[in-house]
Amino acid sequence: MKLIFHGHASFEIQLNDGTVLLVDPWITGNPQCDIDLNFKCDYILVTHGHSDHYGPDTITLSQKNNAPIVGMFELVNYSLALGAPVGHAMGIGGQWKFPFGTVKLMHAQHSSSIVKDGIPIYLGEPVGFLIQADDKTIYFSGDTSNFGDMAIFGSAYDIDVAILPIGDNFTMGPESAASASKRLNAKVVIPEHYNTFPEIKQDPNEFAKLLPEGVVQILNPGESYSV
Ligand code: NI
Ligand code: MN
Repeated sequence: MKLIFHGHASFEIQLNDGTVLLVDPWITGNPQCDIDLNFKCDYILVTHGHSDHYGPDTITLSQKNNAPIVGMFELVNYSLALGAPVGHAMGIGGQWKFPFGTVKLMHAQHSSSIVKDGIPIYLGEPVGFLIQADDKTIYFSGDTSNFGDMAIFGSAYDIDVAILPIGDNFTMGPESAASASKRLNAKVVIPEHYNTFPEIKQDPNEFAKLLPEGVVQILNPGESYSV
């Protein structure tokens, strides 16, 4: 399995059988993004409705690839109403076995809406994803605070890689993300959701110093980590 960072909160997971999962693709308007709308993927996983994780790009990519949008019930049904050809709606705590492995929806402490004409439209609860494939366990927290149940996730699952926001302001900052990393007991932590906007300016190297050497893997857009 290979994880490839595409800027901000966008990650690609390449599985050993060639399946490509895309998490929170944000292409149009993302100053860090290194892919375009011709990107080939098999599934699109979306943590929540905010425009730096979800939007017209999500629908376009789903249409071009006939790729199911996987996520919270409200967000997936809204996507189908907007023209996505296929989706897989789930609820928090639910797990589903896909051909490539399993996805479980984990709760997150954040919000989830998309703004239309200045009015937020509710898109269900924000979530994280626990993905088990290729005998590996990956946890995407999504946008969230640091919360105590992460310790339960850490004892219930042997997490190989946790992908956590460190930007602060909208999500956890570096200290909180370091605390979350300890709770999750993840072997490797990849920071995301920083340096895209002035409000989330952070030095990932400072974050890395808060955890034992070698735990934090910093990826620049286009770079990958083999699990
Ligand atoms: Ni958000
Ligand atoms: Mn965000």
